[in-house]
Amino acid sequence: MTKQIFVVSGSLRKGSYTTALCRAVCGLQIEGAKFVMRDYARTLPIYDGDLDTDTPPTQVAEMRSEIAESHALLIGTPVYNYNIPGGLKNFVDWASRPYANHSFIGRRMGVFGCSPGESGGKQSVEYLRNIIPLFGATLIGPELLFAKIDTFMSADEAVDASVMGPLSALARELAE
Ligand SMILES: Cc1cc2nc3c(=O)[nH]c(=O)nc-3n(C[C@H](O)[C@H](O)[C@H](O)COP(=O)(O)O)c2cc1C
Repeated sequence: MTKQIFVVSGSLRKGSYTTALCRAVCGLQIEGAKFVMRDYARTLPIYDGDLDTDTPPTQVAEMRSEIAESHALLIGTPVYNYNIPGGLKNFVDWASRPYANHSFIGRRMGVFGCSPGESGGKQSVEYLRNIIPLFGATLIGPELLFAKIDTFMSADEAVDASVMGPLSALARELAE
């Protein structure tokens, strides 16, 4: 059976390096795996416990069932003020509920970060890598940080092998 890998970017902007890397991963041909890239960092309502009932908003229900049907998740993220962007945090909040009965449980999860600066998204990646095991998910792959990412991508989104190599390795490990 084909294993679905759910990909989400923490950046909403059109010219995002993070989203471009997510797209590049989705273009990989990995036998037995298919990637689905989703925009839930943008489209979910702001988390509200009063909406988190047995009949949550449609987008939330769809997102949770897509994750439950996925073998693995890949999250790409920039750093915004030393943490993950708000939309991505909101996605994580919705996906991590109901407590102890949510769709992250049992999933394989990998993370990468990038930035035009020196950090490569370190604080965001550290944050996510710390909380993923607490969700009952399996953290896959090494800490992947791509600093000075603007120098490793061309205007047509061709990605340098020094970035694509480790990203592909993570994608393959997620698909195992
Ligand atoms: C609100 C905001 C906060 C940011 N905070 C940081 C930061 O703490 N550290 C850092 O290295 N870059 C920071 N940046 C720069 C982002 O890393 C940079 O804009 C990056 O390109 C965003 O990722 P994207 O290309 O995927 O959209 C910040 C950018 C924004 C918009």
